[in-house]
Amino acid sequence: MMFQTRIEEIGERSLLAAKEYLLQGECVAFPTETVYGLGADARSDAAVANIYAVKGRPQDNPLIVHVHSGYDLNELVYDDKPYAKKLREAFLPGPLTLVYRSRGTVSKKVSCGLDTLAVRVPSHEGAQRFLRAVGIPVAAPSANRSKHVSPVTAGHVYDDLYGKIPLILDGGPCSGGIESTVCDVTGDRPVVLRAGLISREMIESVAGSCDMYVLKEGEPARSPGMKYKHYAPACKTKLFAPEELGKAKEEFFALQSGGTRVLVLCEGSAAAAFPQEAVLCLGNTPAEMAENLYSLLREAETRAEVLLAVEPVGRGGVMTGVLNRLRKACAEG
Ligand code: TXA
Ligand code: MG
Repeated sequence: MMFQTRIEEIGERSLLAAKEYLLQGECVAFPTETVYGLGADARSDAAVANIYAVKGRPQDNPLIVHVHSGYDLNELVYDDKPYAKKLREAFLPGPLTLVYRSRGTVSKKVSCGLDTLAVRVPSHEGAQRFLRAVGIPVAAPSANRSKHVSPVTAGHVYDDLYGKIPLILDGGPCSGGIESTVCDVTGDRPVVLRAGLISREMIESVAGSCDMYVLKEGEPARSPGMKYKHYAPACKTKLFAPEELGKAKEEFFALQSGGTRVLVLCEGSAAAAFPQEAVLCLGNTPAEMAENLYSLLREAETRAEVLLAVEPVGRGGVMTGVLNRLRKACAEG
């Protein structure tokens, strides 16, 4: 179906329209504190199938269900781990998605046949208003074309999904910048499946322990989304380790003198190595780098043929999530 995609600020009228669209099985984009989501009625097979069609998303990559902070979790999942309650009290609403055993009350297509369900309670005020207004569990991936950079403004959503959805709720730019941490709480200890703004260290400090999931060769992925190429800008990309700054510099000037439109993505402390007008600066702190990453990747693809990315120096904490996204954006294939 083709739509005249509208961008509307969040208010009584747009929320009423959003609810109507969702109940008709259509998708509506909405802001969260991490990235924009592409929401649909999680209870409906047809509505969930619509999400996959709109995004062009592989059918074996499960979705997160979004609910408002007053929603009764027991309608959706079995919540039997005391440490999961501690995590909710410490971090929710916020950028932490928890994976529980599912009660099977939403469409099976949400979890792609897994017996678990990922649930997220976003802290963004606009997201809360939207989820409260619609009242239903909303399945939502990031509101980008599959494999493209996740959207952090309503304009980014429009660029990717124009004509494919009727409504984008505009809540301004997302302050978090990278997708939520996904953490499995079905076992004896929490396991981070996707790194994000709630770091493994933060979870460990509340739950007493926390593992980081590492995909092993030949094993089925526990978080299927992690195996796909993701977050990629349309330009060519090349990634350099922090200690390869000199190499990046050489390559930059070689490309530039050959007439290639080339830009550099790096943290503040590396920026001085390049001409100022060619630098897309990530910032100086992990939080700044998370917030700026996706906007800069989208800017790179409109301005450059080649993007040279120099990895920031910091490791651990929120940098685990930032580096994971940066590496995937610059991955081959
Ligand atoms: O911040 C976010 O999480 C954003 C906003 C819109 O809320 N959403 C988002 O959704 O990033 P998406 O679809 O792009 O990523 C969902 C991730 C994937 O890596 C997927 O594999 C994982 O969550 N996931 C979903 N359900 C799962 C499940 N039952 N078990 C394990 N992993 C699951
Ligand atoms: Mg995504």
